[in-house]
Amino acid sequence: MNILLLGSGGREHALAWKIAQSPLCNTLFIAPGNAGTQACGTNVPLSNTDFRKIGEFVIENTVELVVVGPEEPLVRGLGDYFRTEPALSRVAFLGPGSQGAALEGSKDFAKKFMIRHQIPTASYRTFHQSQLAEAKKYLEQFSPPYVLKADGLAAGKGVVIPDTLESAYKELEEMLAKGKFGEAGNTVVIEEFLKGMELSVFVLTDGKDYVILPEAKDYKRAGDNDSGPNTGGMGSVSPVPFAGRDFMKKVEERIVQPTVRGLQKDGIPYTGFIFIGLMNVKGAPFVIEYNVRMGDPETESVIPRIRNDLAALLLAAASGKLAGKNVEVAPETAVTVVAVSGGYPGEYRKGKAIHGTDKAEGSLVFHAGTMEKDGVLLSNGGRVLAVTSLRSSIEEARDATYRSLRNIAFDDMQYRKDIGKDLMTVNTAAT
Ligand code: AMP
Ligand code: GLY
Repeated sequence: MNILLLGSGGREHALAWKIAQSPLCNTLFIAPGNAGTQACGTNVPLSNTDFRKIGEFVIENTVELVVVGPEEPLVRGLGDYFRTEPALSRVAFLGPGSQGAALEGSKDFAKKFMIRHQIPTASYRTFHQSQLAEAKKYLEQFSPPYVLKADGLAAGKGVVIPDTLESAYKELEEMLAKGKFGEAGNTVVIEEFLKGMELSVFVLTDGKDYVILPEAKDYKRAGDNDSGPNTGGMGSVSPVPFAGRDFMKKVEERIVQPTVRGLQKDGIPYTGFIFIGLMNVKGAPFVIEYNVRMGDPETESVIPRIRNDLAALLLAAASGKLAGKNVEVAPETAVTVVAVSGGYPGEYRKGKAIHGTDKAEGSLVFHAGTMEKDGVLLSNGGRVLAVTSLRSSIEEARDATYRSLRNIAFDDMQYRKDIGKDLMTVNTAAT
């Protein structure tokens, strides 16, 4: 079978690497891909939002399965396009239509969904442009910090957590009155701050049945010890020691099942991934956010732990045949560290020569933002590489990843030195 994977980051390289190993996979196309995905299949210069061109490519190349990496094409309705165009409706498409994708595309929709289906989440209210005064008043009942979320997609920047009431007022004004996030911020969700440990849980569903993939912890801040600005993610670890069996049982019963059932009850057909951002609040799971895709860089530590034929699993999910399927998970720990361009998540330069990716023995080097020009590997983004090692302990996995990173170099390459360190304390205390 020919498969088309949309996207170009580390997440897509990890997916491509795994899909390409499947005996079911004939040609894997990645659009647009990066220098790393080129080694797993054929890169195709297609824009993820040019639905007509994607459809034509699928027909011309007898693609039978389409897998979507990022959220934007889904929120914009690529799933609906495939399901309604007669020539494409027989193609297995993994990803929800725009209605289901609103779980990520609209914070207000997601909150209403959770309340409707009694899924634990922070208490909240939604405010529109004309309600600035009411929104300010609502804030007063909370103690700091305050959580303000732009309703729409804001490239991962739409959540602001001010420490004081004054700065929260100011943010609200900027969002509601001054258009800080454009249209995405014309509507703002204000919610209770949840204190606890955060993790990412991944579900693959065909709309009726589901499987839970390995969970992961993401390190979002740019600097060591969670300092500095928020980023797309600087590293990840899977499994997460504070997500034990009891906790994951609560996640499944209180969150995963009501989410999948809720979609069915609401008449929203859904195939694809549901990424649940969770807070473990004293042993009880609360949903912080839904995403309709896999996480990045969580995918780079989750996928290497999956032993199944991934193409078979994704095809089953896309065609309503997940019933009876199980995910076989490697017990080892994966530690992923992202090498970024100096300056990221602010301004940074691209086009720097990358050396040593062949000297990362015992690790997987996933490309996040790279390109190849005249046979030279060049950086092409803020997040450049994601290096993963799978070992029998978190200590060994960290050592292996950091050893590999020391062999890799590009001008002004930076990475966090403490990925996974916080999760070792349990082990250290026990020994
Ligand atoms: P999001 O863009 O929804 O992933 O939010 C970004 C980050 O803000 C999350 O990963 C959390 O760390 C934090 N966050 C969002 N909502 C809350 C909340 N209600 N309580 C505490 N932290 C939150
Ligand atoms: N790593 C978080 C995300 O993919 O949104």
